[in-house]
Parts: sequence; structure tokens; C-alpha cells
Amino acid sequence: MTTFRLNGREVTVKAPDDAPLLWAIRDEIGLTGTKFGCGIGQCGACTVHIGGEAVRSCITPVGAVAGQAVTTIEGLDPKGQHPLQVAWIDAQAPQCGYCQSGQIMQAAALLKATPHPTDAEIEATMTGNLCRCMAYIRIKKAIKAASAKGVAA
Ligand code: FES
Ligand code: FES
Repeated sequence: MTTFRLNGREVTVKAPDDAPLLWAIRDEIGLTGTKFGCGIGQCGACTVHIGGEAVRSCITPVGAVAGQAVTTIEGLDPKGQHPLQVAWIDAQAPQCGYCQSGQIMQAAALLKATPHPTDAEIEATMTGNLCRCMAYIRIKKAIKAASAKGVAA
């Protein structure tokens, strides 16, 4: 059993310590916004925040987050109105949508650390988040729009 804070509330899961955090979040807690893509840390679909840092939940053992603060896309903003989410809608960034929660969580960590990233910094940070629909141009546009509004995500 592991106890941690998830989106601001304390949760305890029964999953073995070495089970992926992603499974605990999706299957045990039932928050399905965080997606399974590759399962080996290579696509970014499963990105969540642990202590404010973007982390791949598919390769993070749930036991490693004991006592820590985990945030998923469902907890990024209580009303789903985080500036990045607003910018995402304005830019009509998603196509199929599968990669998008991971993209937003990665971008949110970027803007928290670097509120006004350069194009190169955006590209370097987002390069590990794959999009099979090739929505990269709209994703970058949304990140730049949120940054331009002075978002400290
Ligand atoms: S599912 Fe975790 S990085 Fe692909
Ligand atoms: S919008 Fe389809 S995978 Fe990115």
C-alpha cells in the first residue's frame, strides 16, 4: 500500500510498490485522463507532475511517490481553465487527443520553471512528447500563447 497526495487529496492505493504509478492512477483510482502510450518512458502520454516536475508515470513505481504530491491533468486546474488549457482550446491543438494531457502536463511544468521560453526551449522540452497526429505546430502555438499572457503555471 502506498499513500500520497493526488490532486490535493490524500489517497492510499493497494498496488504493489513496484507497480507503475500510471496503473494506480487509472485502474485503482479511476482517473483516466493520463494515458498509456508506450509503457517504456518514450512517448510522454502518461506525463504527470510529482512535486511540480513532469514525470513519466508509466515507469515510475507507485512506491516511489509515497508521501509526495502528484498532479494529473484532472488536478491541473479545478475548473479545467488552466491558461494552457484555455490556449489549447483557442489553438484547437488536439486532433485525436490521445497525447494531449501529457503534452499539457509537460508544457505546464515548462512554464512553471521558465515562464517565457524561447522556441528552442519549447522544442527541447516537448521533444519527448510524441503526437501521432502531428499536432506539433498547434501545440507550440498554444504554449507560446499561454506564455505571452504571462502564465506562471
Ligand atoms: S506511456 Fe509513459 S512515456 Fe509512453
Ligand atoms: S492529437 Fe492525436 S496523438 Fe496527439
